[in-house]
Amino acid sequence: MSDKKATLKIDGMDAAIELPIYSGTLGPDVVDVGSLTGKGMFTYDPGFVSTAACESQITYIDGGQGVLLHRGYPIDQLAEQSDYLETCFLLLYGELPTRAEKEEFVRTVHNHTMVHEQIRTFFNGFRRDAHPMAIMCGVVGALSAFYHDSLEISEERDRQVAAFRLIAKMPTLAAMSYKFSIGQPFMYPDNTLSYAENFLHMMFGNPCEPSTISPVLAKAMDRIFLLHADHEQNASTSTVRLAGSSGANPFACIAAGIAALWGPSHGGANEAVLKMLEEIGDVSRIDEFVARAKDKDDPFRLMGFGHRVYKNFDPRAKVMKEAADDVLAELGIENDPLLAIAKRLEEIALHDEYFIEKKLYPNVDFYSGIILKAIGIPTSMFTVIFAVGRTVGWIAHWHEMISGSYRIGRPRQLYTGHQQRDYVPLDKR
Ligand code: SDX
Repeated sequence: MSDKKATLKIDGMDAAIELPIYSGTLGPDVVDVGSLTGKGMFTYDPGFVSTAACESQITYIDGGQGVLLHRGYPIDQLAEQSDYLETCFLLLYGELPTRAEKEEFVRTVHNHTMVHEQIRTFFNGFRRDAHPMAIMCGVVGALSAFYHDSLEISEERDRQVAAFRLIAKMPTLAAMSYKFSIGQPFMYPDNTLSYAENFLHMMFGNPCEPSTISPVLAKAMDRIFLLHADHEQNASTSTVRLAGSSGANPFACIAAGIAALWGPSHGGANEAVLKMLEEIGDVSRIDEFVARAKDKDDPFRLMGFGHRVYKNFDPRAKVMKEAADDVLAELGIENDPLLAIAKRLEEIALHDEYFIEKKLYPNVDFYSGIILKAIGIPTSMFTVIFAVGRTVGWIAHWHEMISGSYRIGRPRQLYTGHQQRDYVPLDKR
């Protein structure tokens, strides 16, 4: 905190209002405006562009410098040297695990990878062509109906069990959503495999033959999960925090986060990027689409570009771009046409006055779809993959809030509706 103050002078008010200013470890100071309601005023910040909704120690983003730290560790170092479950431990507990802690954490996650056998029947309620995100919203919320023994959120033990259950079961449910959509039998988890290997086993394995998991694809999958693990107070994480602030159980909160993530402006962008690249179809058509993205009268946006916080490269996009090159090369996919279009599109956009002036750079979703497609993940599953990776971030923020002192989130508004008026009976209208 700090002893700095902001002084707000408001027309018509004699006395200026003194507002405390707090400083964090990194990043901008914040002005505590909590006392304004008592002065008959609200702040106004649609989209929360300039609003810090909470204090947190989990992730720090410097949008100007393109920096992303998880508990102080840069994302590029974690992507290069760590793995997803180790990063989960870091996000949840604040420190990198010792070897023994890591082994225990992995073992505990393995003990929760199966879902209750009755959950399998939930899938039969969906049409085969249901979007997998629609299924995930439903089945993850339904977990509340099965795990009554870990819903007492005031108990640390319950919070821990719910966290392990969600981190461990999301890949299982995600793979079930895919298998259901193609009419293949669900695959049980194989706990002799790593987290990413197990996911690929459940996605692409079948009961008729042993799974052969490519270590290249497993490494790429693990890195994709890691790069999506957390990202400060983004829309879906803020949704989880708001849902959790009412005391809702963690499974319902994560289902709310999945719903928020689905939008094309957020986690749905990775699916939209692939569709956009396929619609562009050839580098010769890029200029046409860039022109459309710049046209105020055209709702088309360059999907995978721009970010509320990053006004420089999204560091995850950089790692993803390198990984795309590696994965395609290791798979012997030469000259992937979509990657060629993506790279050319990035090059053109980054030299275009409009994108430079608006500081629009590729974000995490721009290259991820190229890798997911190379791994064999269908486009409709891209946002589900994002949700699997982000579950630990949602849970870490939920846990950070619930373990501390918190109040129910209840924003106010600028009301511009009718003044009070009397009811008019039907025969007088
Ligand atoms: C994620 O918040 C997070 O951290 C999210 C995320 C995470 O890990 O959780 O990083 C994941 O959601 C990444 C973003 C994925 N979305 C997309 O790629 C969709 C395309 N991008 C945009 O729709 C947009 O850039 C947002 C939603 C990402 C950011 O929206 P903002 O901050 O509200 O910015 P804006 O819409 O006000 O845009 C500012 C200006 C506008 O022009 P003006 O009205 O000022 O003239 O830039 C323009 C926009 O029209 N603009 C774009 C553009 N993005 C912004 N123009 C063309 N193409 C784009 N992609």
